[in-house]
Amino acid sequence: VVAAGSGTRFGGPKQYTELGGRRLVDWALDAARRACDGVVLVAPPDRPDHDPAADHTVPGGATRSASVRCGLEAVPADAPVVVVHDAARPLAPPELFDAVIEAVEAGADGAVPGVLVADTLRRVEGGVLDRDGVVAVQTPQAFRADALRRAHEGDPDATDDATLVEAAGGRVVVVEGDRRNLKVTDPTDLELVRALLP
Ligand code: C5P
Repeated sequence: VVAAGSGTRFGGPKQYTELGGRRLVDWALDAARRACDGVVLVAPPDRPDHDPAADHTVPGGATRSASVRCGLEAVPADAPVVVVHDAARPLAPPELFDAVIEAVEAGADGAVPGVLVADTLRRVEGGVLDRDGVVAVQTPQAFRADALRRAHEGDPDATDDATLVEAAGGRVVVVEGDRRNLKVTDPTDLELVRALLP
């Protein structure tokens, strides 16, 4: 669970904001716990203390990809499947973790949740992108551990891990995402998530 962002667009660290009687990050940790054998929390570098809600707590890096690499170092070498999830998505249901894990167990190198895009996609400088066959990609994302580790060799950067695994030659499949699995980026997102809490 990567939670080391500084929350620039939010106006401060959102990971520890109260949400439904617990910390925002606890929702992601809890969902991960239900689906996985172990949970690593990648925390902001200024909050590196062990978090009792996770098995391991490690400080993150300067970018999301760097933070994922910090977390990977704490994942046991014999774990066959690794799931990466953004703490910023508190409403990801455990079933979504199960779905991406199952897709990897069925043979994919990586699996991501995707949801259809409802809006027309226009380039600011002009021209419209065809939204047919396009999905908005969420986390949790599951990977064969060796494919994920290889994809991170050389310290590349991307907005998600599936991009890196695919760039390294891996096969990534899309499973049906969940429209409630919103990403808390700005304060309005937090209001929406509050309204959708189970
Ligand atoms: O900033 P971004 O939208 O890419 O953040 C997605 C997730 O990655 C968030 O949960 C955030 O806390 C995490 N992140 C991180 N380390 C960074 C930047 C983002 O763990 N340096």
